[in-house]
Amino acid sequence: METLEETSPSQTADYTVKADHLSKTFGSFEAVRDVTLEIEPGAIYGFIGPNGAGKTTTMRMLATLLEPSDGEAWVCGLSINDHHQENLAALRACIGYMPDFIGIYDKMTCREYLEFFAAAYFIEPKRRAGLINDLLELVDLSAKKESYIEGLSRGMTQRLALARTLIHDPKLLLLDEPASGLDPRARVELRELLKELSRMGKTIIISSHILTELTEMCSHVGIIERGTLLASGKVSDILGKLNQHMRIVKLRIRPIKAEKVEVLRGILLNGPGVKAVRPLDSQPLTDWEVQVEGNEAELNQLLRYFVEKNVPLFGFAEQPTNLEEIFLQVTKGYVS
Ligand SMILES: Nc1ncnc2c1ncn2[C@@H]1O[C@H](COP(=O)(O)OP(=O)(O)OP(=O)(O)O)[C@@H](O)[C@H]1O
Ligand SMILES: [Mg+2]
Repeated sequence: METLEETSPSQTADYTVKADHLSKTFGSFEAVRDVTLEIEPGAIYGFIGPNGAGKTTTMRMLATLLEPSDGEAWVCGLSINDHHQENLAALRACIGYMPDFIGIYDKMTCREYLEFFAAAYFIEPKRRAGLINDLLELVDLSAKKESYIEGLSRGMTQRLALARTLIHDPKLLLLDEPASGLDPRARVELRELLKELSRMGKTIIISSHILTELTEMCSHVGIIERGTLLASGKVSDILGKLNQHMRIVKLRIRPIKAEKVEVLRGILLNGPGVKAVRPLDSQPLTDWEVQVEGNEAELNQLLRYFVEKNVPLFGFAEQPTNLEEIFLQVTKGYVS
């Protein structure tokens, strides 16, 4: 569109979200400080941080519900600081925001609730009924179409909120702790649903402080603490950076006599790059974990060393680090 001037398109157009030193202060309190990040189309971006870290504040700014005190961000190439009606309308058409707490209206059925939001997003009246059926099916609530919302369980309410978030087919989903209060089964179902949405081409930002929840599903991750983004990028890249320093290798060793266990421990500890060794709970004792500093070549050296020392090894596997470990390592200086 002629009137929508693109701000340095080469920088912004390639990303669904790009933030540049985004900041928010409440009075003199800096809730979000200099957040700079890029999220590519199709990413499932896990936004992780403890309570009060600034996740909701950041998401509300991206959703144009809260004005930044400083900095800039672009969603689908459109600036969140450009308050012209045309820009805001285009921007909000791109965004599906699911707040951490959704307002529920009394005496409204699921269908009426979605009809209300369909109208609010100017969906053509003749398209609404079909769309609502499709959305209810997607979130597995077809059976509750005519039920009152107040009678839904927490998990069902969350799924209804997700359906509402999808009603205008946004490119970006901003989901603020969508899994909070869900039972394990509902969490798995939500995860599957989000993966499905990602396959449908949506970019998803999902906040949580429960790391295991995000481990399996996120392609990218941002770790925020006390308003500062400590790391942001592909899960594999962040892991790679950490892994240059420390790796965990799990060993399987044929059962040995009890009196030889300390000898074995000594041999393992003397391995090149080995920083720590611990037996895992296994009966008989076969499983050990060693912490190794070094790259892949050094791991190879270590394996050779074990073989030379006649360690009766039958398993040598580097453990994938999970988000929990990334989080603990990245925030080490802050939490201790
Ligand atoms: N409207 C406001 N006025 C004053 N302070 C605020 C306001 N909104 C948020 N804050 C403060 O900003 C900080 C970040 O809050 P935010 O809600 O963004 O954290 P969060 O990471 O979403 O936490 P949680 O995991 O608990 O949801 C907190 O210290 C909070 O008290
Ligand atoms: Mg929050």
